[in-house]
Amino acid sequence: MAGKDLEKGSEAEGFEHDFESGLAVLPPDKIKDPGLEPHRVRMTDKSPAKAKNAERQVAALFLASVVGSFFALWAYVAFPITEDLATVRANNLFLGLGMTLSLLGIGIGAVHWAKTLMPDFEVTEARHQTRGSEEVRAKAVEIVKLADSESGFSRRKLIRRTLYGALALFPLPALIVFGDLGPQVGNSLRQTMWKAGTRLTKDPTGVPIKASDVTLGSVFHVIPEGLSEMHEHKLEEKAKAAVLLVRLNQESLNEAEDRKGWSYDGIVAYSKICTHVGCPVALYEQHTHHLLCPCHQSTFDVTEHCRVVFGPASRPLPQLPIAVDAEGYLIAQSDFLEPVGPSFWER
Ligand code: FES
Repeated sequence: MAGKDLEKGSEAEGFEHDFESGLAVLPPDKIKDPGLEPHRVRMTDKSPAKAKNAERQVAALFLASVVGSFFALWAYVAFPITEDLATVRANNLFLGLGMTLSLLGIGIGAVHWAKTLMPDFEVTEARHQTRGSEEVRAKAVEIVKLADSESGFSRRKLIRRTLYGALALFPLPALIVFGDLGPQVGNSLRQTMWKAGTRLTKDPTGVPIKASDVTLGSVFHVIPEGLSEMHEHKLEEKAKAAVLLVRLNQESLNEAEDRKGWSYDGIVAYSKICTHVGCPVALYEQHTHHLLCPCHQSTFDVTEHCRVVFGPASRPLPQLPIAVDAEGYLIAQSDFLEPVGPSFWER
Protein backbone atom coordinates (compact mmCIF):
# COMPACT_ATOMS: atom_id res chain seq x y z
CA MET A 1 0.00 0.00 0.00
CA ALA A 2 2.77 2.40 1.02
CA GLY A 3 4.73 1.44 -2.16
CA LYS A 4 1.74 2.33 -4.35
CA ASP A 5 1.43 5.74 -2.65
CA LEU A 6 5.10 6.42 -3.31
CA GLU A 7 4.67 5.47 -6.99
CA LYS A 8 1.67 7.78 -7.37
CA GLY A 9 3.54 10.64 -5.63
CA SER A 10 6.57 10.18 -7.90
CA GLU A 11 4.49 10.28 -11.07
CA ALA A 12 2.85 13.45 -9.86
CA GLU A 13 6.27 15.13 -9.51
CA GLY A 14 7.33 14.24 -13.05
CA PHE A 15 9.05 10.92 -12.37
CA GLU A 16 8.84 8.28 -15.07
CA HIS A 17 9.04 4.55 -14.69
CA ASP A 18 12.34 3.09 -15.96
CA PHE A 19 11.55 -0.41 -17.23
CA GLU A 20 15.18 -1.60 -17.17
CA SER A 21 15.89 -0.80 -13.54
CA GLY A 22 12.31 -0.84 -12.36
CA LEU A 23 12.86 2.51 -10.62
CA ALA A 24 11.07 5.83 -10.88
CA VAL A 25 13.49 8.32 -12.55
CA LEU A 26 13.34 12.04 -13.29
CA PRO A 27 14.15 12.94 -16.92
CA PRO A 28 17.08 15.41 -17.20
CA ASP A 29 14.94 18.17 -18.76
CA LYS A 30 12.69 18.08 -15.71
CA ILE A 31 15.49 18.57 -13.15
CA LYS A 32 15.09 22.03 -11.72
CA ASP A 33 17.99 24.47 -11.39
CA PRO A 34 18.59 24.61 -7.62
CA GLY A 35 19.80 28.23 -7.92
CA LEU A 36 22.23 29.92 -5.58
CA GLU A 37 22.26 29.61 -1.81
CA PRO A 38 20.89 32.68 -0.03
CA HIS A 39 23.55 35.37 0.26
CA ARG A 40 25.13 35.69 3.71
CA VAL A 41 26.19 39.19 4.61
CA ARG A 42 29.69 39.33 6.16
CA MET A 43 30.37 40.98 9.49
CA THR A 44 32.74 43.40 7.79
CA ASP A 45 29.87 44.53 5.51
CA LYS A 46 27.58 45.12 8.47
CA SER A 47 29.99 46.89 10.78
CA PRO A 48 32.51 49.60 9.78
CA ALA A 49 34.46 48.84 12.99
CA LYS A 50 34.91 45.20 11.95
CA ALA A 51 35.96 46.32 8.47
CA LYS A 52 38.58 48.62 10.01
CA ASN A 53 39.81 45.72 12.14
CA ALA A 54 40.12 43.49 9.11
CA GLU A 55 42.02 46.23 7.30
CA ARG A 56 44.50 46.43 10.19
CA GLN A 57 44.92 42.64 10.22
CA VAL A 58 45.70 42.60 6.50
CA ALA A 59 48.22 45.41 6.94
CA ALA A 60 49.81 43.55 9.90
CA LEU A 61 50.22 40.43 7.75
CA PHE A 62 51.88 42.42 4.98
CA LEU A 63 54.16 44.03 7.59
CA ALA A 64 55.05 40.57 8.90
CA SER A 65 56.08 39.74 5.35
CA VAL A 66 58.32 42.82 5.26
CA VAL A 67 59.93 41.75 8.55
CA GLY A 68 60.43 38.22 7.14
CA SER A 69 62.19 39.59 4.04
CA PHE A 70 64.53 41.76 6.11
CA PHE A 71 65.19 38.83 8.43
CA ALA A 72 66.08 36.60 5.47
CA LEU A 73 68.50 39.24 4.13
CA TRP A 74 70.06 39.63 7.55
CA ALA A 75 70.35 35.85 8.00
CA TYR A 76 72.11 35.51 4.65
CA VAL A 77 74.81 37.92 5.79
CA ALA A 78 74.89 36.88 9.46
CA PHE A 79 75.24 33.12 8.79
CA PRO A 80 77.71 32.76 5.89
CA ILE A 81 78.36 29.26 4.61
CA THR A 82 81.87 28.00 5.25
CA GLU A 83 83.45 24.55 5.08
CA ASP A 84 81.83 23.73 8.41
CA LEU A 85 78.57 21.82 7.84
CA ALA A 86 76.97 23.50 10.86
CA THR A 87 77.08 26.82 9.00
CA VAL A 88 75.03 25.32 6.13
CA ARG A 89 72.39 24.23 8.62
CA ALA A 90 72.23 27.62 10.35
CA ASN A 91 72.16 29.49 7.03
CA ASN A 92 69.38 27.29 5.61
CA LEU A 93 67.34 27.40 8.80
CA PHE A 94 67.30 31.15 9.31
CA LEU A 95 67.11 32.04 5.62
CA GLY A 96 64.23 29.58 5.27
CA LEU A 97 62.41 30.96 8.30
CA GLY A 98 62.67 34.51 6.96
CA MET A 99 61.46 33.55 3.49
CA THR A 100 58.62 31.48 4.92
CA LEU A 101 57.39 34.42 6.97
CA SER A 102 57.77 36.69 3.98
CA LEU A 103 55.70 34.48 1.67
CA LEU A 104 53.14 33.46 4.27
CA GLY A 105 52.54 37.11 5.21
CA ILE A 106 51.74 38.05 1.62
CA GLY A 107 49.66 34.91 0.97
CA ILE A 108 47.55 34.96 4.11
CA GLY A 109 47.18 38.75 3.92
CA ALA A 110 45.88 38.57 0.34
CA VAL A 111 43.39 35.81 1.17
CA HIS A 112 42.18 37.64 4.27
CA TRP A 113 41.80 40.86 2.27
CA ALA A 114 39.76 39.12 -0.43
CA LYS A 115 37.55 37.27 2.05
CA THR A 116 36.77 40.16 4.35
CA LEU A 117 37.02 43.41 2.42
CA MET A 118 36.77 42.90 -1.31
CA PRO A 119 33.27 43.02 -2.91
CA ASP A 120 31.18 40.05 -1.86
CA PHE A 121 28.54 39.08 -4.39
CA GLU A 122 27.84 35.92 -6.32
CA VAL A 123 28.30 35.91 -10.06
CA THR A 124 27.00 33.29 -12.47
CA GLU A 125 28.14 32.80 -16.00
CA ALA A 126 26.49 30.39 -18.41
CA ARG A 127 28.84 28.05 -20.20
CA HIS A 128 29.13 28.84 -23.86
CA GLN A 129 29.39 26.27 -26.59
CA THR A 130 32.98 25.33 -27.27
CA ARG A 131 32.46 24.43 -30.93
CA GLY A 132 32.47 27.50 -33.19
CA SER A 133 29.45 28.25 -35.35
CA GLU A 134 29.50 27.09 -38.98
CA GLU A 135 30.04 30.67 -40.01
CA VAL A 136 33.12 31.07 -37.75
CA ARG A 137 34.57 27.74 -38.90
CA ALA A 138 34.13 28.66 -42.56
CA LYS A 139 35.83 31.99 -41.89
CA ALA A 140 38.80 30.24 -40.24
CA VAL A 141 39.23 27.95 -43.27
CA GLU A 142 39.06 30.97 -45.52
CA ILE A 143 41.82 32.73 -43.50
CA VAL A 144 44.11 29.66 -43.64
CA LYS A 145 43.60 29.36 -47.42
CA LEU A 146 44.27 33.06 -47.90
CA ALA A 147 47.48 32.83 -45.82
CA ASP A 148 48.56 29.83 -47.89
CA SER A 149 47.96 31.58 -51.18
CA GLU A 150 49.55 34.86 -50.07
CA SER A 151 52.66 33.17 -48.65
CA GLY A 152 52.89 30.71 -51.52
CA PHE A 153 53.50 27.91 -48.99
CA SER A 154 51.88 25.22 -51.16
CA ARG A 155 53.23 26.64 -54.41
CA ARG A 156 56.87 27.24 -53.47
CA LYS A 157 58.13 23.73 -52.88
CA LEU A 158 61.76 24.73 -52.39
CA ILE A 159 60.96 27.11 -49.54
CA ARG A 160 58.55 24.65 -47.98
CA ARG A 161 61.02 21.78 -47.97
CA THR A 162 63.95 23.81 -46.68
CA LEU A 163 61.72 25.18 -43.93
CA TYR A 164 60.78 21.63 -42.92
CA GLY A 165 64.49 20.79 -42.79
CA ALA A 166 65.32 23.87 -40.72
CA LEU A 167 62.49 23.16 -38.28
CA ALA A 168 63.53 19.53 -37.91
CA LEU A 169 67.16 20.38 -37.19
CA PHE A 170 66.96 23.46 -35.01
CA PRO A 171 66.20 21.54 -31.73
CA LEU A 172 69.34 19.40 -32.24
CA PRO A 173 71.88 21.78 -30.61
CA ALA A 174 69.65 21.99 -27.54
CA LEU A 175 69.31 18.20 -27.45
CA ILE A 176 73.08 17.78 -27.68
CA VAL A 177 73.70 20.30 -24.91
CA PHE A 178 71.19 18.70 -22.57
CA GLY A 179 72.23 15.19 -23.58
CA ASP A 180 75.81 16.09 -22.75
CA LEU A 181 74.77 17.19 -19.32
CA GLY A 182 73.35 13.80 -18.33
CA PRO A 183 76.37 11.50 -18.69
CA GLN A 184 78.72 14.17 -17.29
CA VAL A 185 76.67 14.57 -14.18
CA GLY A 186 76.23 10.81 -14.04
CA ASN A 187 79.98 10.18 -14.24
CA SER A 188 80.80 12.72 -11.57
CA LEU A 189 78.34 10.92 -9.33
CA ARG A 190 79.83 7.54 -10.18
CA GLN A 191 83.28 8.52 -8.90
CA THR A 192 84.19 9.44 -5.36
CA MET A 193 87.52 10.31 -3.74
CA TRP A 194 88.11 6.71 -2.68
CA LYS A 195 90.80 4.80 -4.53
CA ALA A 196 93.10 1.87 -3.79
CA GLY A 197 95.24 2.69 -0.75
CA THR A 198 93.28 5.73 0.51
CA ARG A 199 93.22 5.62 4.28
CA LEU A 200 89.93 5.73 6.16
CA THR A 201 89.96 8.76 8.47
CA LYS A 202 87.64 10.08 11.16
CA ASP A 203 85.07 12.71 10.21
CA PRO A 204 85.69 15.63 10.68
CA THR A 205 89.25 15.50 12.11
CA GLY A 206 90.84 13.48 9.32
CA VAL A 207 92.73 11.26 11.78
CA PRO A 208 93.54 7.86 10.17
CA ILE A 209 91.81 4.87 11.74
CA LYS A 210 93.61 1.69 12.73
CA ALA A 211 91.74 -1.59 12.61
CA SER A 212 92.55 -2.02 16.29
CA ASP A 213 90.70 1.28 17.08
CA VAL A 214 87.42 -0.19 15.84
CA THR A 215 86.04 -2.14 18.75
CA LEU A 216 83.13 -4.57 18.54
CA GLY A 217 79.81 -2.72 18.06
CA SER A 218 81.44 0.66 17.52
CA VAL A 219 80.56 2.94 14.60
CA PHE A 220 82.83 5.47 12.92
CA HIS A 221 81.79 8.28 10.62
CA VAL A 222 84.50 8.19 8.00
CA ILE A 223 85.91 10.38 5.23
CA PRO A 224 88.77 9.67 2.81
CA GLU A 225 92.26 10.79 3.77
CA GLY A 226 92.94 14.30 2.46
CA LEU A 227 89.33 15.44 2.41
CA SER A 228 89.53 17.38 5.66
CA GLU A 229 92.36 19.54 4.22
CA MET A 230 90.57 20.32 0.97
CA HIS A 231 89.58 23.93 0.35
CA GLU A 232 87.57 23.60 -2.84
CA HIS A 233 84.64 21.27 -3.52
CA LYS A 234 85.05 19.79 -0.05
CA LEU A 235 81.33 19.52 0.64
CA GLU A 236 80.58 18.03 -2.80
CA GLU A 237 83.24 15.37 -2.33
CA LYS A 238 82.15 14.65 1.22
CA ALA A 239 78.53 14.30 0.09
CA LYS A 240 79.61 11.40 -2.14
CA ALA A 241 82.41 9.78 -0.15
CA ALA A 242 81.05 9.71 3.42
CA VAL A 243 81.17 6.22 4.88
CA LEU A 244 80.02 4.39 8.00
CA LEU A 245 82.41 1.89 9.54
CA VAL A 246 81.07 -0.85 11.79
CA ARG A 247 82.67 -3.85 13.48
CA LEU A 248 80.58 -6.97 13.97
CA ASN A 249 81.25 -10.45 15.20
CA GLN A 250 82.72 -12.29 12.26
CA GLU A 251 80.06 -15.03 12.72
CA SER A 252 77.16 -12.60 12.43
CA LEU A 253 78.36 -11.37 9.04
CA ASN A 254 76.52 -13.14 6.27
CA GLU A 255 78.83 -12.30 3.40
CA ALA A 256 78.30 -13.22 -0.23
CA GLU A 257 81.00 -15.42 -1.73
CA ASP A 258 82.25 -12.72 -4.13
CA ARG A 259 82.48 -10.12 -1.34
CA LYS A 260 84.25 -12.12 1.32
CA GLY A 261 87.45 -10.13 0.80
CA TRP A 262 85.73 -6.72 1.14
CA SER A 263 85.72 -6.63 4.94
CA TYR A 264 88.54 -6.90 7.47
CA ASP A 265 88.17 -9.01 10.59
CA GLY A 266 84.45 -8.20 10.94
CA ILE A 267 84.92 -4.52 10.02
CA VAL A 268 82.69 -3.38 7.15
CA ALA A 269 82.34 0.00 5.44
CA TYR A 270 79.17 1.21 3.74
CA SER A 271 78.22 4.44 2.00
CA LYS A 272 76.51 6.81 4.39
CA ILE A 273 74.33 8.29 1.62
CA CYS A 274 70.85 6.80 1.67
CA THR A 275 69.85 5.16 -1.61
CA HIS A 276 66.37 6.63 -1.32
CA VAL A 277 66.88 10.37 -1.73
CA GLY A 278 70.32 10.85 -0.28
CA CYS A 279 69.97 11.74 3.40
CA PRO A 280 72.90 10.73 5.61
CA VAL A 281 72.20 7.38 7.24
CA ALA A 282 73.19 8.13 10.78
CA LEU A 283 71.61 5.75 13.27
CA TYR A 284 73.01 2.35 14.16
CA GLU A 285 71.05 -0.15 16.24
CA GLN A 286 73.71 -2.27 17.83
CA HIS A 287 71.57 -5.23 18.89
CA THR A 288 69.79 -5.67 15.53
CA HIS A 289 72.78 -4.53 13.41
CA HIS A 290 70.46 -2.20 11.52
CA LEU A 291 71.39 1.16 10.02
CA LEU A 292 68.50 3.63 9.93
CA CYS A 293 67.95 6.64 7.74
CA PRO A 294 66.22 9.37 9.75
CA CYS A 295 64.49 10.94 6.76
CA HIS A 296 61.99 8.25 5.74
CA GLN A 297 63.03 5.40 8.00
CA SER A 298 64.71 3.17 5.42
CA THR A 299 66.44 0.42 7.37
CA PHE A 300 69.48 -1.54 6.18
CA ASP A 301 70.79 -4.81 7.58
CA VAL A 302 74.57 -4.57 8.05
CA THR A 303 74.93 -8.33 8.44
CA GLU A 304 73.60 -8.85 4.90
CA HIS A 305 75.42 -6.26 2.82
CA CYS A 306 73.04 -3.54 3.98
CA ARG A 307 70.02 -5.16 2.37
CA VAL A 308 66.90 -2.96 2.67
CA VAL A 309 64.66 -4.45 5.35
CA PHE A 310 62.22 -1.57 5.65
CA GLY A 311 61.32 1.74 4.03
CA PRO A 312 61.30 3.30 0.59
CA ALA A 313 64.97 2.78 -0.40
CA SER A 314 65.12 0.44 -3.37
CA ARG A 315 68.67 -0.91 -3.13
CA PRO A 316 71.28 -1.69 -0.46
CA LEU A 317 73.87 0.85 0.64
CA PRO A 318 76.97 0.44 -1.55
CA GLN A 319 79.85 -1.30 0.20
CA LEU A 320 83.39 0.09 0.17
CA PRO A 321 85.94 -2.76 -0.07
CA ILE A 322 88.53 -2.28 2.68
CA ALA A 323 91.82 -3.79 3.83
CA VAL A 324 94.67 -2.92 6.21
CA ASP A 325 98.07 -1.47 5.26
CA ALA A 326 101.46 -2.43 6.66
CA GLU A 327 101.03 -0.02 9.60
CA GLY A 328 97.66 -1.41 10.58
CA TYR A 329 95.61 1.47 9.18
CA LEU A 330 92.35 0.76 7.36
CA ILE A 331 92.54 1.55 3.65
CA ALA A 332 90.15 1.33 0.69
CA GLN A 333 90.79 -1.39 -1.86
CA SER A 334 89.19 0.75 -4.58
CA ASP A 335 86.41 3.26 -5.14
CA PHE A 336 82.83 2.05 -4.63
CA LEU A 337 82.00 -0.43 -7.36
CA GLU A 338 78.52 1.00 -7.86
CA PRO A 339 77.13 4.55 -7.74
CA VAL A 340 76.39 5.94 -4.29
CA GLY A 341 73.26 7.82 -3.34
CA PRO A 342 69.74 7.89 -4.75
CA SER A 343 68.95 5.17 -7.25
CA PHE A 344 66.68 7.13 -9.59
CA TRP A 345 69.36 8.15 -12.06
CA GLU A 346 70.70 4.68 -12.69
CA ARG A 347 67.41 2.79 -12.87
S1 FES B 1 66.40 9.50 2.27
FE1 FES B 1 66.69 7.77 3.46
S2 FES B 1 64.79 6.90 3.62
FE2 FES B 1 64.46 8.61 2.37
